[in-house]
Amino acid sequence: PASDTFIEALPKAELHVHLEGTLEPGLKIILARRNGHPLQDATEDDIRAGYGFHDLPSFLALYYEGVELLHTEQDFYDLCHAYLKKAASQNVLYSEMFFDPQLHTRRGIAFETVISGLNRARKDAQRDFGIRSQLVMCFIREMSAQSAEETFTQALPHLSDIVGVGLDSDEKGNPPAKFANVFKRARDAGLHVTMHCDIDQENTHEHIRQALEDLGSERLDHGLNILEKPDLLRQARERHIPFTVCPFPNMAIRPNSNEKDIRALLDAGLTITINSDDPGYMQGVYMTEAMKMARDGAHLTPDELLAISRNAFRAAWIGEKERRIYL
Ligand code: HPA
Ligand code: ZN
Repeated sequence: PASDTFIEALPKAELHVHLEGTLEPGLKIILARRNGHPLQDATEDDIRAGYGFHDLPSFLALYYEGVELLHTEQDFYDLCHAYLKKAASQNVLYSEMFFDPQLHTRRGIAFETVISGLNRARKDAQRDFGIRSQLVMCFIREMSAQSAEETFTQALPHLSDIVGVGLDSDEKGNPPAKFANVFKRARDAGLHVTMHCDIDQENTHEHIRQALEDLGSERLDHGLNILEKPDLLRQARERHIPFTVCPFPNMAIRPNSNEKDIRALLDAGLTITINSDDPGYMQGVYMTEAMKMARDGAHLTPDELLAISRNAFRAAWIGEKERRIYL
């Protein structure tokens, strides 16, 4: 298996991280003080002690509560800047970051406030730490298709700052097909497309099928249930669909998954990448730690981890000239 030093030094690209999920307890307290929220009297340990979750809904409840602490342009700046600084310290050279505008606009925060804080942080982090990043706007799947459409309309003046669209949050009863029209609008506008197909959801195979065949998803976020469907598996292999696998949440919030998943995906000939997902809530598991978890579970060799890292740079939504810098 690969050594810790090898993993730490490996140049990395992250393709599956939710910015709102990078909110660390320390920053929560700072934001609570700044915005006069009761959490200002808590300690980091108090906050971490409340982080018990066992499935996607119980995780999302925590995540939604944390989101409420974000109000101003500076708050969004601080969130994104802290993540990029941490990622850069782990040799992440490039990151595509999900954000959930609806969780903010539905609380009365302007779309512009969110995106301008994130963009300012991206710019400063590139200048200060050399890390390149782009934004992927996610739609909240338990909210209505109409709300997703309105959000896309709000994003229109900012499309040059958004590289793609995704689909996240509560999957049960919310298939990709619900959002067919807004994803078509996004594709027509030249945006890239990905979506979450989490493990242990209802109708997971049909969701994967819709994502790949009907909605034009170029990647699958998680998507591990594909292992149970030979026809979908063959399609994903032939199309070289990248899977953004996240070892921590796989183990922690998806009861039927196990440490052998990554080996099974590799054995099936799929193109996988390793990512953190929501590191602020996941015991400090950022990219380096996620790769170590994957190594421990699947006994990954240095060659395999190098190949996985190159998969991420190949799957990144960047121009070929920039890609050559990394590969
Ligand atoms: N799955 C679905 N929705 C999410 C996640 C996740 O892992 N993290 C933040 N929103
Ligand atoms: Zn995710």
